[in-house]
Amino acid sequence: MNLPPVIAIDGPTASGKGTVASLVAEKLGFHYLDSGALYRLVALGSQKAAIDPKNGLELGILAKNLVISFKNGQILLNSENVTEAIRAESIGLRASAIAVHPEVRQALVGVQHGFRVFPGLVADGRDMASVIFPDAALKVFLTATAKARAERRYKQLIAKGIPAKLEYLLQDLQERDARDSSRGTAPLLLADGAKLLDTSELSVDQAVKTVLDWYQSKVASFLGG
Ligand code: CDP
Ligand code: CDP
Repeated sequence: MNLPPVIAIDGPTASGKGTVASLVAEKLGFHYLDSGALYRLVALGSQKAAIDPKNGLELGILAKNLVISFKNGQILLNSENVTEAIRAESIGLRASAIAVHPEVRQALVGVQHGFRVFPGLVADGRDMASVIFPDAALKVFLTATAKARAERRYKQLIAKGIPAKLEYLLQDLQERDARDSSRGTAPLLLADGAKLLDTSELSVDQAVKTVLDWYQSKVASFLGG
């Protein structure tokens, strides 16, 4: 059976995954999956339900039962619009804490596979290439120095009028990097066959073009047999 093609883009926080993946999806007319949003939804839901971030069993049950919908760029959790609320740095940190539990990860597999529809999917996260879509046509590991990433987050927050301190952002980011890379289940890693793209010195347009060029050469090599 011919499955829709997937471009998997993994990487640490603020490496530009979301920005690059959504632009690549737009250029190709593909669907887009922001898998981090799912972990953020579980984080927010568990905060509302006062579930201990260490309680994998209860978190897994919550994750299985969350009513999530994506409509016109808005994200609804149990019919409440949480598009902005899930982007808080505190929710990002809580997301990385709850994401260590295999029960939570398992509960989110089906919903992620559901995004794989024709003509194709660009999926970003931590384990898109290694676990969720191991047969992805193209696997990209996007990265940048911690300093460059903290500065990007800082600029994003200031542009939204949210007060931020660069040194705290750098600390949060390093804490999240360490947890995401060291956990036992689906750690952030360079998957087999993934191409490394360091964007520290690249513009968004240059990063998008690199991914599109890589994808075109993959397609050309498939067609060429
Ligand atoms: O999804 P992820 O956390 O990896 O990053 P993001 O939310 O896409 O944020 C990355 C920020 O860095 C955005 O404001 C981009 O405009 C900026 N940026 C980038 O993504 N790629 C570059 N090569 C340069 C800057
Ligand atoms: O945008 P940023 O990279 O800061 O975070 P995100 O992609 O929204 O993901 C938030 C947290 O969810 C990450 O720190 C990871 O711990 C977790 N996550 C994960 O474990 N697996 C994924 N496929 C996506 C996110």
